[in-house]
Amino acid sequence: TSCVALIVAAGSGERFGGDRPKQYQRLAGRAVLHHTISTFLRHPAVDAVQVVIQPAHRELYDAAVADLALPEPVAGGATRQDSVRLGLERLAALDPVPGFVLIHDAARPLVDDATIQAVRDRLDAVPAAIAAVAVTDTLKRGVAGLIGGTVERAGLWRAQTPQGFRFADILGAHREFAGAELTDDAAVAERAGLEVALVEGNADNLKVTNQDDLARAAMLMNASLL
Ligand code: CTP
Ligand code: MG
Repeated sequence: TSCVALIVAAGSGERFGGDRPKQYQRLAGRAVLHHTISTFLRHPAVDAVQVVIQPAHRELYDAAVADLALPEPVAGGATRQDSVRLGLERLAALDPVPGFVLIHDAARPLVDDATIQAVRDRLDAVPAAIAAVAVTDTLKRGVAGLIGGTVERAGLWRAQTPQGFRFADILGAHREFAGAELTDDAAVAERAGLEVALVEGNADNLKVTNQDDLARAAMLMNASLL
């Protein structure tokens, strides 16, 4: 069964700020987005990669991925959920459509091969599976700068991407719940009543949100060369 990676890169990176959107910032000599796409392109479990971008970023995109063989990017939407749905609609026009789709944030350039493989493998048994990391810190509820209580940590996970799905299932869920303003695709799947498995991912698979995250990503990449 074919498996396509859908990489959403159509955000504006408002929290990051800077001279260009975060997915086009340089990290170890290449654009953040280039790291992300390359990892999926060379992964043996992935048959094709489809990227979703903002048309206003077209020149940045072309410069960032000039050396990679990719299909024409899809134009994204106003929210992440819209961008994913528009990407899925492009894949729905393929003949044949993919069997599986792995949806991934361009802003997670440190995604590793083993996590991709683990999410894909789980799809042989369940309709949906996401990379996630178990919470290890003790959690406090803050109330006006004071602790309002301790939150039970057991059973809590931090959701990451990739998030993998049987293609027909997630396409149907995104069509049904378009505009619901859900922040990840697992939430769309949950809303549609799909069972979603948690796959233990890697804490280093951080999402570049603020400038500190990019510095941390660079540190983690150098550390892995030692
Ligand atoms: N994304 C997208 N389309 C949008 C919004 C987000 O494709 N309309 C993508 C981003 O490019 C990113 C991923 O979804 O790879 C995760 O979103 P987030 O980290 O929130 O990125 P931004 O929305 O760009 O950042 P911010 O929320 O700070 O503006
Ligand atoms: Mg955002």
